[in-house]
Amino acid sequence: MGIQFRKESFRDDFTFRNSPDTIRRFPFPFDRDDYMYAVNIEPHVKGRPGTAFEHLIDVDEHYVAEMADKALVLKEDPLRCQSLPHMELAGWDLLEMLMEQQASGYPDHFTLVRDSTRWRWINRPLGIDDTFTFGDAATLPYGPMEYITRQAQGDFCLLDQRVGDLWMDAGIVTTQADWSLDFDIGMSFMEWHAPVPRAHELGVFDRALKFLLQLRQGQPMRRSNWTMTVNARLDTSPENYHKWGPDRMTVLPENVGHKVHLRVELQSFWRLPRSNAMVFPIRCYLLKLEELVTEPKWARRMHRVLRDLPQDLADYKGLSRWRQTAVDYLARYDDGAPTSPGV
Ligand code: HEM
Repeated sequence: MGIQFRKESFRDDFTFRNSPDTIRRFPFPFDRDDYMYAVNIEPHVKGRPGTAFEHLIDVDEHYVAEMADKALVLKEDPLRCQSLPHMELAGWDLLEMLMEQQASGYPDHFTLVRDSTRWRWINRPLGIDDTFTFGDAATLPYGPMEYITRQAQGDFCLLDQRVGDLWMDAGIVTTQADWSLDFDIGMSFMEWHAPVPRAHELGVFDRALKFLLQLRQGQPMRRSNWTMTVNARLDTSPENYHKWGPDRMTVLPENVGHKVHLRVELQSFWRLPRSNAMVFPIRCYLLKLEELVTEPKWARRMHRVLRDLPQDLADYKGLSRWRQTAVDYLARYDDGAPTSPGV
């Protein structure tokens, strides 16, 4: 059966919600009761049906609404999508990857028909049926990266690999946790990670870069990252800080369960076949605290992680102003029982 796509918003009246089935498939990121940065990279292989890992590119009930929000962000600020001239081939690689993954994972919703370089792409949820020539950007309404990523949930960075480093030379970034593609475009791995506390000293970035440079085609990898967001806003960009920064002042004991969201990024790393570039999809999942506490083991663990999070990480993630209000709310769901390792 096909996915029932929700009508909802990620701005203004914030009607975003998760259905009970979507709460159950939320990729809860903590495998222990405390948190510190680590090189938490593992093979990106298919997981159990009914989880966010069932397919390598996940489509869920928020797809149509997220695509509408992405289109709004791009309309207001076209610099959220940029591609340096040498990245066009990587854009075609990405188009192929996303079309293949979405069509094979969700045949009710997406179809790809290939006749040599003549391709037909049908996206039923968005009402798209386009025929184009693979490799000829003049046959698409946008460049290949923009065309396909306007039809895929999450953000995408395309990294060029040269002189032993990765360079953020293209991307589409509308759903980010307070960083800017327009600022980072053209930067190297260590440069764009410069603001992150502790991880440099812990050697996380040295090891991660060494590992990523060896990434092989057909063997994608993944990791998760997390932060927390007030209101179900996807676009928490520096460009729009004036819109969402003040929301942090609005968290109160009586609304914290509804307003505060755990924001998980399922990040994957894919070597691309023609360009040898890497694509880094960042898929964002939001879960209201009042939804999170419906799973007792998540509530216990979230309470402990948030309570004990080192202050510099809380400051970097932007949680400090309302952290205690959220910890007090979650404490009501923590009976002190020991938890076992694993998610
Ligand atoms: C944060 C991009 C891979 C660990 C960030 C930020 C960006 C970014 C733009 C925000 C920095 C800021 O504050 O301005 C990328 C890209 C990657 C990549 C494009 C793909 C090559 C990795 C890997 C690791 C990693 C492999 C570790 C194994 C982190 C950590 C943070 C971070 C720990 C801080 C996140 C937080 O506390 O919310 N990354 N990253 N990144 N990245 Fe990466």
